[in-house]
Amino acid sequence: MIDYELINKQVEAFIEVDDNLIGILGNVSAILKEAGGWHWVGFYLVDSNSQKCGKGEELLLGPFQGPPACLRIKYGKGVCGTAWKMNETLVVPDVDAFPGHIACSSLSRSEVVVPINEKGKVVAVLDIDSKDLDDFSKEDVEGLEMICASLAALWR
Ligand code: SME
Repeated sequence: MIDYELINKQVEAFIEVDDNLIGILGNVSAILKEAGGWHWVGFYLVDSNSQKCGKGEELLLGPFQGPPACLRIKYGKGVCGTAWKMNETLVVPDVDAFPGHIACSSLSRSEVVVPINEKGKVVAVLDIDSKDLDDFSKEDVEGLEMICASLAALWR
């Protein structure tokens, strides 16, 4: 059982003493990866000034723990881009059954993506991949949503 309340207290403490996005999101990735033993834990940040995709906005890889991952994800694409578009948490118990799933690692079997909202707008997403099928419970989703709600303060 992961103690999400305790992790959330740590997150709040980080934010109370500093506002450095990269460092704090790096530490939160590390804490969650240690706690859950997942394959990949990290953040994609909404890049509003992207010159690369031609349309202005896409997700850009942020701090993470695990193997290298895709650098950019377009709006509405993959699990991350879909969670961004819908502005809601997506739990994918079997990534092979999700049309358009972006396979950064062939070892990933299930995935959860939680948007971080500030004033109703998605500013980033937390993405976690597991090597096991159906590895994310209701408790995981609630805990991760609590942490993402706390992290939104970094964008204020
Ligand atoms: N699988 C994700 C892409 C990111 S990697 O999992 C780190 C997706 O479909 O959006």
